[in-house]
Amino acid sequence: MQTTLQRSPVSASSIRVCTTASTRIREVDFENLGFGKVFSDHMFVAEYDGSKWTNMRIMPYGKLMMSPAMSALHYGQAIFEGLKAYRNEQDEVFVFRPIKNARRLNESASRMCMPSLPEDIFMDSITELVGIDRDWIPRKEGESLYIRPVMFATDEYVGVRPSDTYMFFVFTCPVGRYYSGELKVKIELNYTCAYKGGTGHSKAAGNYAAALWPTQKAQEEGYNQILWTDGLTHEYFEESGTMNVVFKAGNSILTPMITDSILDGVTRDSVLRLARDWGYQVEERKVSVREITDLLKAGQLDEAFGVGTAATVAPIRTIGYQGTNYDLRPSDTWEFAPRARKELDLIKQGLVPDVHDWVVRIP
Ligand code: COI
Repeated sequence: MQTTLQRSPVSASSIRVCTTASTRIREVDFENLGFGKVFSDHMFVAEYDGSKWTNMRIMPYGKLMMSPAMSALHYGQAIFEGLKAYRNEQDEVFVFRPIKNARRLNESASRMCMPSLPEDIFMDSITELVGIDRDWIPRKEGESLYIRPVMFATDEYVGVRPSDTYMFFVFTCPVGRYYSGELKVKIELNYTCAYKGGTGHSKAAGNYAAALWPTQKAQEEGYNQILWTDGLTHEYFEESGTMNVVFKAGNSILTPMITDSILDGVTRDSVLRLARDWGYQVEERKVSVREITDLLKAGQLDEAFGVGTAATVAPIRTIGYQGTNYDLRPSDTWEFAPRARKELDLIKQGLVPDVHDWVVRIP
């Protein structure tokens, strides 16, 4: 399926490029990348002046100047995205489904009363930036170049109203896996991260802040992450703090349907597409805690896993519910999640036919 990009009045070819005089790449320990700690040489920056995006440039990665009265700091008009670039043995570079991120950024912008960013500017910022820093893309299994686009309000004003001015920037990080092993997660029955009518569907910075304290408490109890439940009854699953959640029982792949309190994840969508292609029965619907814990107690929950850009496909081995931990079988015996992760890896590296038109090749 061909994608038609929303074009901007400002040509994306007006990106000015100023490259660094000395690369930092030789200082990087590519054997120990971790996640989100190493930053490539360049970043893209653009400004919204109240009526249009302007001053688009690629420049050396570095600190930004800001006013203490910058409104994003006070009232939280800040949204972001996450996507990845991959490089294969033949040195070909691909970005996975960037247009979905461009569109989701604009959905988030609309909910947060921020200006939309023309899709061609989003796409050009990424293709230019990744092209310039392509040597930073690691090649080992599970590694990639994580791309972080961010938009935030820049008005120097303390009253509560939408900002007139904004900044959009994109930087990149060579990364390893976000989660290295099988996860232990806790079903959260007290705290709420997102609520019907709230901003949970948006990739708004504040959503992640709201999750920090309950997640920290769960981590103190030995869990890696939380499985959020709905804010009204705590009877239905929503998503996890860093990814959407999917379950498998028999031939059924179950996942909470997208609502205004659940992020419409790109990896979620891709994994469900593969499941349908492979003949599984995909059920996007309300998934109750009762249903899943009954399956767990009966030993009939075959698989549980998180899906996200950073997390990729992350197997969940243990689920904590009301103080009891329920174990699933080891994930290397599972049939679906490891296959989906492998297939996505091959698609992202351009190593199998891209039948869904998911990858964008960077020249
Ligand atoms: C992503 O998966 O891209 C995210 O933004 C999640 C974040 C926890 C790294």
